[in-house]
Amino acid sequence: MLVTGKEILVPAREGKYGVPAFNTNNMEITQAIIHTAEKLEAPVMVQMSEGAIKYGGQDLANIVKDMAQRAKIPVALHLDHGSSYESALKAIAMGFTSVMIDASHHDFEENIRETKRVVEAAHAMGISVEAELGRLGGIEEHVIVDEKDAFLTDPEEAVQFIEQTGTDYLAIAIGTSHGAYKGKGRPFIDHERIEKIASMTTIPLVAHGSSGVPKEITDRFRTAGGEIGEAAGIADEDLTRAVQHGIAKVNVDTDLRLAASVGVREAFMSNPKEFDPRKWMGPARDVMSEIVAHKLKVLGAAGKA
Ligand code: G3H
Ligand code: 13P
Ligand code: NA
Ligand code: ZN
Repeated sequence: MLVTGKEILVPAREGKYGVPAFNTNNMEITQAIIHTAEKLEAPVMVQMSEGAIKYGGQDLANIVKDMAQRAKIPVALHLDHGSSYESALKAIAMGFTSVMIDASHHDFEENIRETKRVVEAAHAMGISVEAELGRLGGIEEHVIVDEKDAFLTDPEEAVQFIEQTGTDYLAIAIGTSHGAYKGKGRPFIDHERIEKIASMTTIPLVAHGSSGVPKEITDRFRTAGGEIGEAAGIADEDLTRAVQHGIAKVNVDTDLRLAASVGVREAFMSNPKEFDPRKWMGPARDVMSEIVAHKLKVLGAAGKA
């Protein structure tokens, strides 16, 4: 069933598990997400960025909504990184059940003002809202406290921000970053910061940039002719720990991009004569489904629907 983000994330924060929010850009990605979650009896969130809306528009939103409505598990359709009030309202008009307003690049007061406007409009229509406070950026374990404090989310500010905006869930900067290159060595999550913020708040917390960039997938990508540098992601143990301490929504895009590309590359490598799209999009969907299943298990979402 198609539900709001709050209906999925409030029980997750309370139950100390995480729900992955996967980005989609087409039917196969959406099927990998929703059908795998159904198989594992897990709630799941499907998100479209503004770029995904530009690419797939209402056609793609309708695919997600229809698949969600027919699914036996709770599914929310979420706007990822909405850049303005107008963008959030457009997504709501398209049938999204959850929207993110990302005004985190503005100063604190402006972030509050923008977020508050979106919260008021969205709540009037029964739609839940994600906001963001702090700057995403990869950190390493040895980075000094002053430098971390400069861009990671400040716990006192988080409390004030939640009170003043009424946001339903909050993305916090804890050291993760977007993409396949999350800092040198083992990318680090500031677990103490998560625990501190969680101890002072009750709403679900959100981690962006949570792809694992598994070595197995990057190895397969290279073997199948792909080029990728010193890629690194967030370790499974870090995610398992983060969701026990207040992170309820875990954003993943890069891992599905890599998985899809591996599926396509391997299909063409092993059968250069093939040109039936089902014979290369199908394998892409299969590799993505494996990633989705793995994340649902790591986050403890499997069996929670
Ligand atoms: O955080 C961004 C997501 O990975 C979506 O990326 O804007 O290229 O669709 P995109
Ligand atoms: P990844 O690049 O780690 O998959 O993060 C995606 C994300 O945060 C989307 O909002
Ligand atoms: Na988001
Ligand atoms: Zn993000």
